[in-house]
Amino acid sequence: MSMIVRRLSRAATAGLVAAAALTAAAHSAEAADTLGSAAAGQGRYFGTAVAASHLGESDYAATLDREFSSVTPENEMKWDATEPSRGSFTFTSADRIVDHAQSQGMDVRGHTLVWHSQLPSWVSPLGAQDLRTAMNAHINGLMGHYKGEIHSWDVVNEAFQDGGSGARRSSPFQDKLGDGFIEEAFRTARAADPAAKLCYNDYNTDGVNAKSNAVYDMVKDFKSRGVPIDCVGFQSHFNSNSPVPSDYRHNLQRFADLGVDVQITELDIEGSGSAQAADYTKVVEACLAVSRCTGMTVWGVTDKYSWRSGGTPLLFDGDYNEKPAYGAVLSALGGSGGPGDPGDPGDPGDGASCTAMYTRTADWSSGYNGQVTITAGAEPISSWTATVTLPAQQSVSSLWNGTPTWSGNVMTVRPSWNGPLAAGASTSFGFTAAKNGSDAAPTVGTCTAS
Ligand code: XIL
Repeated sequence: MSMIVRRLSRAATAGLVAAAALTAAAHSAEAADTLGSAAAGQGRYFGTAVAASHLGESDYAATLDREFSSVTPENEMKWDATEPSRGSFTFTSADRIVDHAQSQGMDVRGHTLVWHSQLPSWVSPLGAQDLRTAMNAHINGLMGHYKGEIHSWDVVNEAFQDGGSGARRSSPFQDKLGDGFIEEAFRTARAADPAAKLCYNDYNTDGVNAKSNAVYDMVKDFKSRGVPIDCVGFQSHFNSNSPVPSDYRHNLQRFADLGVDVQITELDIEGSGSAQAADYTKVVEACLAVSRCTGMTVWGVTDKYSWRSGGTPLLFDGDYNEKPAYGAVLSALGGSGGPGDPGDPGDPGDGASCTAMYTRTADWSSGYNGQVTITAGAEPISSWTATVTLPAQQSVSSLWNGTPTWSGNVMTVRPSWNGPLAAGASTSFGFTAAKNGSDAAPTVGTCTAS
């Protein structure tokens, strides 16, 4: 909500800029009960992809305006949308998004300048020299129009191949201009808008693998030779075939250690309920653990308009209700007011509740395994706390899927990864206890939810 300097050619009015500043101030004065304000409390932005065609839908706009502090046009800044025929630029749809964002005090990510996909048909037949001229003219045309208005630009998108080779992807740019097209695009971009962070963006690079290693080598080479690059974007489209990698944080950190910012640029995770919520928590925690991870963007506001709508991968359902994943992200960002929290605007009531039920799942002469199942009441919950009182002689040697604190023989257990639960959904934690001569069962106290 900072650097908004509109170009005079885009019909700037002092009034609009003033309105944007006021809205930004109002946002920051509120408690951290939205994604944008909670992320701001962590020094990050929290953005979403936006489609111009949905801005007229009041629930869409209300959710966007309430929750997010950055927007990325989902398709409107791509080459086919902005320069459908050579040299004639059209910015109508992209301007609608940028104007809307600015009126709400939101920042804008630019996506994307050079990409093999959503490329108008006139580009690929060009000969090498002409293609180079066209690429630079496209970068200059687009970045010039939005000069000073975009916090980060995806300068080059998806230039590496999938699979184990770490090779560049075949594209008109790669095939005709060779590896050097990426560097040339970044140099042109730096001159076109020196204030914008220049990013390389890709998918399947979220963990350490051959593809991310190849991007890593390129960034390292760019930094060593002074090629202007400021940031690497990790698209982070996850599903059961491509889950959140366990070395996600480590991978973000190794890129940051090269001297670039990292951003999570197109986050979506297929699934539902507490499993989806837990995966979202992992992603947010990974970003927060890396000081140069400057922000996160989810790839859409609502499941119903997601490019992967069948996988319900976003934070709001088709009716703009907050999903368990929303509460998980909000609480991972240190915010309050997720589902079940008092005063949450998306909550029908504030009846967050849970029950805890104990069973012994294994038994042997010297010990046993206990399990406590936590079930949310009629409303989704973002977290829970359960107490377990053990007979005096017994001691617990290990506990899983929960985080214990001790007071005498009373164990208070909070979630590890499994806090958010949909209404009526369950999770459980388990523990191994030594009997030390007492076979009595522990007592489980009341479960409290938030
Ligand atoms: C997707 C959009 O979400 C769709 O609406 C469009 O039909 C295709 O592109 N990687 C990217 C994004 O960098 O631009 C893509 O967006 C998703 C994958």
